[in-house]
Amino acid sequence: MSHTAVLPSPTGTRIGRPGDPCVMVIFGAAGDLTRRKLIPALYNLANEQLLSREFAIIGMARSPMSNEQFRDRMSQDIRQFATGPVDSDLWEWFVRRMYYVQGDFNDSGAYSRLQDALQKVDKEHNTHGNFFFYLATAPEFFGLVIEQLGRCGLVTEDNNHWRRVIVEKPFGHDVESAKALNGQIRKVIEEKQIYRIDHYLGKETVQNILAFRFANGIFEPIWNRRYIDHVQISVAEVVGVEQRGGYYDQSGALRDMVPNHIMQLISLTAMEPPISFRADAVRDEQAKILHAIQPLSDQEVLTRTVRGQYGEGVVAGQRVNAYREEPDVPHDSRTETFVAMKLQIDNWRWADVPFYLRTGKCMPVRNTHIVIQFRRAPFVLFRDTPVENLNPNQLVLHIQPEEGISLRFAAKTPGSIMRLGTVDMNFEYADYFGVTPSTGYERLLHDCMIGDATLFQRADMVEAGWCVVNPVLDVWKALPPRNFPNYAAGTWGPKEADDLLERDGRRWRNFDK
Ligand code: BG6
Repeated sequence: MSHTAVLPSPTGTRIGRPGDPCVMVIFGAAGDLTRRKLIPALYNLANEQLLSREFAIIGMARSPMSNEQFRDRMSQDIRQFATGPVDSDLWEWFVRRMYYVQGDFNDSGAYSRLQDALQKVDKEHNTHGNFFFYLATAPEFFGLVIEQLGRCGLVTEDNNHWRRVIVEKPFGHDVESAKALNGQIRKVIEEKQIYRIDHYLGKETVQNILAFRFANGIFEPIWNRRYIDHVQISVAEVVGVEQRGGYYDQSGALRDMVPNHIMQLISLTAMEPPISFRADAVRDEQAKILHAIQPLSDQEVLTRTVRGQYGEGVVAGQRVNAYREEPDVPHDSRTETFVAMKLQIDNWRWADVPFYLRTGKCMPVRNTHIVIQFRRAPFVLFRDTPVENLNPNQLVLHIQPEEGISLRFAAKTPGSIMRLGTVDMNFEYADYFGVTPSTGYERLLHDCMIGDATLFQRADMVEAGWCVVNPVLDVWKALPPRNFPNYAAGTWGPKEADDLLERDGRRWRNFDK
């Protein structure tokens, strides 16, 4: 039998307690995120009894809809996007607490209507005046919506109730815009009311990096430059830009994935042990790592970063168009759909240990993993063994779709002579803990409802993430790529990404599923 322990939340209570009574207001309620993730996640919380009985949702968007129409629409969508069977009684309970307010985010009249609706709903569902606002809107509305909420007094807290705001990504498009947005928001609400979401932190396996590193005694002594040769972080996606060409072409792979998701993976892998699991203790350590990443000089951008754009190809047996043929993408687009880079963390633990990272669309497989490669053992005993058989030890944290941890080491192959083979010892989550289907938003929404900001980004973290990529953005902008498209859809990116490691005598570990 396996035993499980629950990490305490900062308030000292266990994570299993239901969220506080509250109303969740979703701006952008007619959009994809609401139907695909937020509503299914809230339903799952209700199912796990982690939602207060005193809870309600108000959706707000531009499209005209009545409460009934909104409920009908969500009832249709849940059939498609629920992560498991939907219990009709529970859904009935859930859907009866959904309301809708039509409004343009620019229009102050819309916020007055929202205010009225909140008053009514709060009374009806006894939600104690606790409200949180989820900004699932286009990023240009983030600052504006918060200013309007401030103007109506909807984000003013007092002793009897709390008010919080969840802000989606992208948070800015470079350092300056992120700082400006932080400044704009902080004029209205305090840092402790702001929950900047990064959905990577809602993934079980990402959270497990902390448990793996800090709940086990055996890894910490070797988790440093003395034993680790380098770290690789790969976030490979098989999808292209789907219907998001308009957004993506302005953003590109670097902005879309690196300052946020990949920085989370780096900081959790590299951070020092926090003194507790309180939000700021964890985030202080993450922030220190982000600040310790050496910004690349212009020259280093040329030698340590690689950008790519997919041309046509075959992904999972299907013919795929080139990026430039995707809807809403210009035919001469110079936007990158792949990025690889080599970073250094300038502190005592990690000096001289390169962190290689890469992410791309239309890769051969969907696979996110972190490879910790250890230094080789001295060759002396195996002088006669071909070098290719002497693989270094690798610890792999499999984030998705496989969720687990594997350790690669050498073993003697059976027989009367000394020959080496490479073997992998695998732990798979599902084998031990089964599978709890989830959207990845459950934990984050619940944390917001209990006031635990550990898994949300603080202002300084977001800005530090942008500081890492800003020099790259600048050089890339000054020197537009001339060889796009430079990798075929369905491959592991441009050849230069392999060269980046080969120059250092290293190789990416590619997984084929
Ligand atoms: C989003 C990006 O933040 O993350 C998308 O905007 C990307 O482009 C997605 O596809 C990846 O998320 P996941 O959970 O599928 O790895």
